[in-house]
Amino acid sequence: MEIDRKAPRVAVLGTGLMGSLIAMVYARAGSEVAMYDIQEDRLRQAMARVKGALEQLRAGGLGGPDERAVLARMVAKTTLAVAVEGADVVVEAVVEDVGAKVDLYEKVEALCAPTVLITSNTSGLQPSVLSQRMNHPERFVVTHFWSPPHLIPLVEVVPSPKTSQSTLSNAFDLLKKIGHRPVLVRREVAGFIGNRLQYALLREALALVQSGVATVEEIDDVVTSSFGRRLATVGPLMTADLGGLHTFAAISRQLFPELASGSEPLQLLVEPVERNELGPSTGKGLYTWPPERLSATVAERDGLLLELLRREKSKQ
Ligand SMILES: NC(=O)c1ccc[n+]([C@@H]2O[C@H](COP(=O)([O-])OP(=O)(O)OC[C@H]3O[C@@H](n4cnc5c(N)ncnc54)[C@H](O)[C@@H]3O)[C@@H](O)[C@H]2O)c1
Repeated sequence: MEIDRKAPRVAVLGTGLMGSLIAMVYARAGSEVAMYDIQEDRLRQAMARVKGALEQLRAGGLGGPDERAVLARMVAKTTLAVAVEGADVVVEAVVEDVGAKVDLYEKVEALCAPTVLITSNTSGLQPSVLSQRMNHPERFVVTHFWSPPHLIPLVEVVPSPKTSQSTLSNAFDLLKKIGHRPVLVRREVAGFIGNRLQYALLREALALVQSGVATVEEIDDVVTSSFGRRLATVGPLMTADLGGLHTFAAISRQLFPELASGSEPLQLLVEPVERNELGPSTGKGLYTWPPERLSATVAERDGLLLELLRREKSKQ
């Protein structure tokens, strides 16, 4: 597989929350990006989201390339065939549904040369499952960006046993070129690394609320104001070293049998979903979400992420 390493042409399929901003990340690095979505209004919303993110980067002191040129490189296409025409790389960011993704790869493979790199932004579906019906599974690899992808540089790269070495090294080269930091997941596993850790914490947090130990607000306060602060610089394993492994071993012995370990989603998550309380999109989830709370929360979160990114870029 030979990719034009200076500026590969990219097709992004699915332009929701993630696809739109991943498209922008590629366009900022100089790629021509074709965007496709089955819902045309999503393509319009994508451009509005991209403009907001470019503005945010500029205001945060990270506005790099000419914004008009970035926007000019991003073109919405209303048919799949036109979107993938001439692409070196296809980035799939459609709904987290195996069937939808597998069907889409079948269509993409019928339209693209076998050398085109196909990546998925799945949050945790295994690449061997996703590439099960592909004619050329060797050109498929998961590149899992985190939200918001223009502010979080790490990308988990997950090959299936059939992914070729050249696909893997092309994916690594590409991600480095767009200023992101690829990390290899050495063996495919559901949820990869980050989401396994994130969901272990979520299960325990929900269980603590459900059993009356603390409220939703109290749990979030304990995390964001204590060990959550450290996590941006010191991971859980280094934390164990710093705290002394003998202490962590003793606490693990006492605590592990006490921790939530069920395999079903907790009622605290299921019941609001049944009431269509999904979070900001419906005005209520575990919290209530008047518009001003949402904008303040996102501004606070992104302000800190921008600060971390500025610090990281200044060291490079
Ligand atoms: N939201 C997150 O925080 C997050 C983070 C990391 C990874 N992901 C993953 O990224 C992917 C996209 O998530 P999202 O949050 O952007 O979802 P989203 O719902 O915001 O967007 C998905 C888009 O895909 C479109 N779509 C569905 N089927 C399609 C098809 N066959 N062809 C073209 N477009 C199609 C939908 O119309 C929608 O616009 C998922 O696999 C998700 O698990 C999400």
